[in-house]
Order: sequence, then C-alpha cells, then structure tokens
Amino acid sequence: MKFGHFDDEAREYVIETPLTPYPWINYLGSEDFFSLVSHTAGGYTFYKDAKMRRLTRYRYNDIPTDSGGRYFFIKDGDDVWTSSWLPMKKDLDFFETRHGMGYTRITGERGGLRVSTLYFVPLGETAEVQKVTITNTSDTVKTFSLFSYLEFCLWNAQDDQTNYQRNLSIGEVEVDGSAIYHKTEYRERRDHYAVYGVNAEIAGFDTDRETFVGLYETLAEAKVPHAGASANSIASGWYPIGSHQVDSTLQPGESRDLVFVLGYVENNAENGEEKWADDAKQVINKTRAQALLARLSTTEAADAAFDALGVYWTDLLSAYTVTSPDDKLNRMVNIWNQYQCMVTFNMSRSASYFETGIGRGMGFRDSTQDILGFVHLIPDRARERILDIAATQLPDGSAYHQYQPLTKRGNNELGSGFNDDPAWLIIGVDAYLKETGDYTILDEVVPFDNNDALAETLYTHLTRSFEFTLNNLGPHGLPLIGRADWNDCLNLNCFSTTPGESFQTTENQAGGVAESTFIAAQFVLAAGQYATIAERGGDTVQADKARTAAAGMSEALLTHGWDGDWFLRAYDFYGNKVGTSEDTEGQIWIEPQGFAVLAGVGVEHNADGTPVQTSPAFRALDSVDRLLGSDHGLVLQYPAYRSYRIELGEVSTYPPGYKENGGIFCHNNPWVIIGETVLGRGAKAFDHYRKIAPAYREEISEVHRTEPYVYAQMIAGKEAVRHGEAKNSWLTGTAAWNFVTVSQYLLGVRTDYDGLVVDPQIGPDVAEFTVTRRARGATYVITVANSGRDGSRASLEVDGVAIEGRTVPYAPAGATVQVRATL
Ligand code: GLC
Ligand code: GLC
Repeated sequence: MKFGHFDDEAREYVIETPLTPYPWINYLGSEDFFSLVSHTAGGYTFYKDAKMRRLTRYRYNDIPTDSGGRYFFIKDGDDVWTSSWLPMKKDLDFFETRHGMGYTRITGERGGLRVSTLYFVPLGETAEVQKVTITNTSDTVKTFSLFSYLEFCLWNAQDDQTNYQRNLSIGEVEVDGSAIYHKTEYRERRDHYAVYGVNAEIAGFDTDRETFVGLYETLAEAKVPHAGASANSIASGWYPIGSHQVDSTLQPGESRDLVFVLGYVENNAENGEEKWADDAKQVINKTRAQALLARLSTTEAADAAFDALGVYWTDLLSAYTVTSPDDKLNRMVNIWNQYQCMVTFNMSRSASYFETGIGRGMGFRDSTQDILGFVHLIPDRARERILDIAATQLPDGSAYHQYQPLTKRGNNELGSGFNDDPAWLIIGVDAYLKETGDYTILDEVVPFDNNDALAETLYTHLTRSFEFTLNNLGPHGLPLIGRADWNDCLNLNCFSTTPGESFQTTENQAGGVAESTFIAAQFVLAAGQYATIAERGGDTVQADKARTAAAGMSEALLTHGWDGDWFLRAYDFYGNKVGTSEDTEGQIWIEPQGFAVLAGVGVEHNADGTPVQTSPAFRALDSVDRLLGSDHGLVLQYPAYRSYRIELGEVSTYPPGYKENGGIFCHNNPWVIIGETVLGRGAKAFDHYRKIAPAYREEISEVHRTEPYVYAQMIAGKEAVRHGEAKNSWLTGTAAWNFVTVSQYLLGVRTDYDGLVVDPQIGPDVAEFTVTRRARGATYVITVANSGRDGSRASLEVDGVAIEGRTVPYAPAGATVQVRATL
C-alpha cells in the first residue's frame, strides 16, 4: 500500500494522507541552522548542535506520536482547525505534504480556505522561513484569523527535559511589534536569542503556553484559537511559546501570503556588538534580528531565497545522474540517495526521529564512511571533515570512537579501543584522493589526540592506522577486535552482567585474544589502498610492506578465518569460533562474507581471467544467499540468538530478528552487493539492491512503515515477529554504502587515481542507460548497452575510439567526454 507518490520532476515525495504508518520527515538547512519537519509539521529546530542550541521543543515518546512542531490554527466563524492536520485532526477537504530538497510544503484545505505552508531554511541565514499562502476557494467573502504556534526550548535540550526545578522559573520573552523574542538566560551568560516574526500587522500575540493552550487542555483544545482572540500574554517562567494572531478578509479566489521567520541571533561582543539596547540592561539589542526579518519581509524576498535553494540543489545533484528505463533506480540515484548522504553529512547520527539529538557525538567510524557518499558532492567540506576526524586519532593509530561536533575533541567517556576505527580513515582518504586528485591533503599537518605538540602529516596518520592493525594481531594472525569492530554489539572482551551497563565501555577482561575476521577483510582493502598512496608518494618501502601485509592477512583469513562454506566471524575471548556451522545459532554472519569478497579475498581466476566458480568467494556468497536471504533483504546472521550469550556482548540482547541479532542491517547488504559485482554476478547484485532500496519498497509502505524515500538502518529480519518493518530511518552509514554500490558498482562508474573506471554489473533488467558524471572539472557522458550476462565485462569506446581496459583517462577541466560501454 502507498501513502503518496514520487514527483521526480519536482524532486519531491508527495504524501497524500496524514495517516502514514509513521511520521515521515524531512530536513531543512545545509549550513548552521537546521530543522526536522514531519509531514504533519512536527519536529524542531536548532543552531549547529541539536543538544546545546535547540530553539524549539519536541516531545519524544509522547501520545499521540509526533507532538511538538510549528502549527497554524485557523478560526473561521465557529470552525477551528489546523492546516497540517495535527494537532487538531479535523477532517480536511484536501491534504498534501511535499518533501523536497531542503524544503517541505504542507497544504490543508477546509471550509473553502486553503492554507499552504512552505518551510525552508534560506542559504546564508540562521532562520527557518514559514511562508503561508491562504486562498479563499469558496464563492463567498471570508473573514478569519490565523494563529501561529510554536514552543521554545530552553536551549540545552537535555537540561530542558530534566531540570524543572530551575527551568520553570527562568523563561523570559520580549515582544516588539510583530516579533516575539525568546531570551531565556540572555541576562546572564548567553549572548544569543531566538526571534519569531511575521511580515504583517498582528491583531495580538501570546508567549505563555498556559494562556494559549490551557493547563488541562490538549493542543487540539487550545483556548486562544477557540476563543478567537489572542490574550497578549507575556511568559514569566513556565513554558514560553511564540504565537501571533493575524486577521484577514479574502474575496472569493483571493490569496494572501504571510512570511513567518524563526531565527537564531547572536550579539557578539568580540565584534563590538552591544548586548543590550538600554543602559539598565533589560532590553535585548535587536539590531541583527530586525535586519534578518527585514531581509525576508516580502513574498518576493522569500521566493527569491527559495529559488536560490533550488539552484543550489540542482547544481549539487548534477555531479552524478543516470537516465534509465527504471524510474525507481533513477530516483534513488539522482535524488534521494544523494540527498540522504548530504543529510548524514550535516547530522552525522545526532538528530532524527530515532536519535534524540542529545545522545551521540560524531562517530570516527561513521563519519569516515559517510565521506564515501558525499565526497563527489562537496569535496572541500570532505577535506575539512577528514582533517577534523584525523585530529582525534591517537598516536598509536587507534582513535577516539566519538568526538563532539562543537569542540571537535575526542570523547573521553567512550574512549577508544574499537579496533576497526583506524582502517576507516584510510578508506575515507582513499575515496577523497580518487575523487579529487588532491595529494596535498597528505602533507597537511594534523594533531594526534587534538594535541598540536603531537602533530604529524596526514600521511603519517595513515601509516599509524595501517600499523595499528599489524601491532594488534591475535594468535591466528587475525586482528584483535578490542571493544568491537564494525558491529558495535559484538563485544568479545567486555562481559557485562549488570543491567543497564554499556556493553561497549564496561571494563575489558584482561588478556583478551578475541579476533575479528571482519577487521581482517577490512585490513586487506585498506592496506592495499595505503600501499597505492605510499607508492604514489614515493615511499616504496611502506608500499611493499603494505602489499606483503595485505597478502598475509588474506592468507590468514583463508586459513584460520574459513569455516568450510563461509568465513568465520571471530574467535572469542576463550579462542572459540564465532560464526561456525558447529554452533546451533549465529552460524553465519554477513559482515566478513561481503567485505572479504569486495576486498578480493578468495577470488581465484582461471587462465582466461574468468573467476573460478568453486573458489571461497563464490562459496561464501552462495552461502549468504542460501542462509541469510529473505524477501526483505539479507539478515545479519542466522540463526539469530534466542538466549543471552554473555561471551558475545550486546548482540544477543536483542530479540531474534532485530538489530544486530538477525535484523536486516541495510548498511552491510551493500558489501555483499559489491562482492557480487566483483564476481561478475550483476543480476544477483541488483536483486539484493532492490530488496532494501526504499523506492522499490514504496508499494509495501504499510509493512516497511518508515519513509519510502530514504533508507532505514534496519529492517526486521526473517526471525522477527514483524519481519519487514523498518526502524531508524535517515542517519545511517547505509546511505553512503548504498550510493557507493549503485553508482560505482551496479552502474559501475567510479573515480580512480588515473581515470574514471566504467565497469557496470547490473544484470539484464537494465538493458541500457546513460550516466553523466562530473569529475575533476570534466563531464563524462557514458552510454551503456548492457547484455547483463553474468561474467561479461564492458568494452569501451572513448570519443569514438576503442580503448584497452576499463579506465577512461581523465580529461582536462571543461571537457566533455563521450564514452560508449558495451557488454
Ligand atoms: C550503528 C552504528 C555503526 C555501527 C552499526 C553496527 O549503525 O552507528 O557505527 O557500525 O550500528 O553495529
Ligand atoms: C547499540 C546499537 C547499535 C549502535 C550502538 C550505538 O549497540 O545496537 O546499532 O551502533 O548502540 O552506540
């Protein structure tokens, strides 16, 4: 069942009913000011940091779901309703929400009034615009009032939910003309405040929640809109809100625009700005806020800002586009997957409807992988991100597992010891170098442990990453796992017996020899990449060392990491095998199968270059298919654990079929898909891809439940009670890895050091397609005629001339290169 449809021309998902199976959200903002907005106008806004600078309040775990947003109440005669359906839930004659690139438009119509609100954050502004267009669709004159409504958060979102003894006494506001100012704590250490204004004369305002809503009323019963008149309340403590009353009379067919602006403003003493407007230091200096409101005070100004946003996205998304007969493929590649990659760049794992914005910092492993998904869109910011992340690496090559975005410092509470972290840095830098050819990044001097005295070149950081694994090998020559590897829940050294204790940070048992085959596979890939980087920098000694180490690790994996039909997952603390047919549960795990094959481990070739069908790589992926496959994607392991296995850590704490215990983790399915393309099995690869890609799941939205336009971290696995149900949408490494998979391996166009590789492996269902790729200033138009036969590889013609191999040499900036690929 569908609840809307894609409008690809407009780059929008159009939601046709408020009754979606879960709130379907969007993100506004791409610089410093961000908003989450659901299809019924729920969500919240913040400046830079979702925990420390939250402007508006949101209620998690509330009944009904999704309470807290920015709403417009209409009082039309005796009828009171809200145009976003929630919170009043009055029947609407028309409802539609369009989520687009950095904007959302919500339209509700009732009793001859159509109210359409466009929410967006203009480029260069620290503000959310809410442009409301009201149209009289009846054949009589209409006189009515509109009441805006939002609730302020007292800045620190965590404190805001816990410290009521203080917070209920400190709320302060000012009202000046049509602008409402939220200035809690401004009298003391804050130099920032929020403003909520509208470009029209107001008939009244409210800033005190209890006055506007009532104490025992719900938002649907809010007193002021039902009374039809604002009370001009001034909040003093309790719960500050912002509400304007705007009265209108519209002739039949007539429309009126109102531009509401919710802004964040800082008066910066260092820039010579006065904090106060008066000598008594009671009134905020509002100069900056007034300038902000003035910039957006007309419909034309708001429209121009909106148009500029559209141009920004058109330009961004033109770096990689595909035209194929498969609309779902086109919309994933051209629009939504890239859009989600940008959102993960902006948000990391902080703020979504599953992440509260007050929990995690930026992950070392998460952020380095995210780079793979957005480096082609914003290479300069990827460069900056790489250097920020590298500065949190420790001198022995290990890394703080997380760092805080405001301070960019490593998080001491969590510390280090996740032994996959170091190699991701190499993988992220490799992607950057291939995309940009900017080797100067390797010479950048970057601190270790955020300490300038310990600074070394980025190249040295990569060397330490590489050596870290070699310095931390276990009894089988496989890498020690530490607290966990990519799988946060495989905690083989830290046994927790106390309820509520963190599995990852509980004390490691002494003498742990637990080893990870995943890190082994990851090392084979990363060491190979590091060898290339070293060689190009003239360091042949390190290059040789790395190649030898990669070959040795590959050997160790095939010898000690092989179970007979697939790769083992680990050796535990006691040296016992994890992920073996000898066990009754958790016999096979997905991570090492996909990653080993994508790194080339166990791929043997015949004399004519074709892969040997009986080689370990084929057997591993055939086992994956047979044992991990399901209608909704590949589960993480099988059979799931049914009882608590203390020696494995968090993994078996999840009920069977959920999360890391047999859930479909959409982040690691791509590794298998890439593996299939390495083996030349495009049809199988594309099949796996379609199972989890949201656009292909749109038809089963009632099962999938989360947004049909973005990936979720997890879909419940085949042993789950609710197989096929997704959770944790938006902020997941799934976005980056699926974009890598579809753009670089299925469609097969990827940047390499000396040219653009064209090597599609998508099977027969997409017989022809054209990819347009902008890389290093040139544009490549690649037309593919695809038999889709397993094992066939592309022959290339570049500007009409056949070439050897599958790498198109880079052309000078400004050039357009025509490539024909036939397979
Ligand atoms: C979450 C984490 C990620 C981890 C994965 C598997 O998505 O953000 O770092 O790799 O879970 O446990
Ligand atoms: C839990 C989750 C995992 C996530 C981690 C983040 O272990 O299962 O997916 O990566 O928490 O701390």
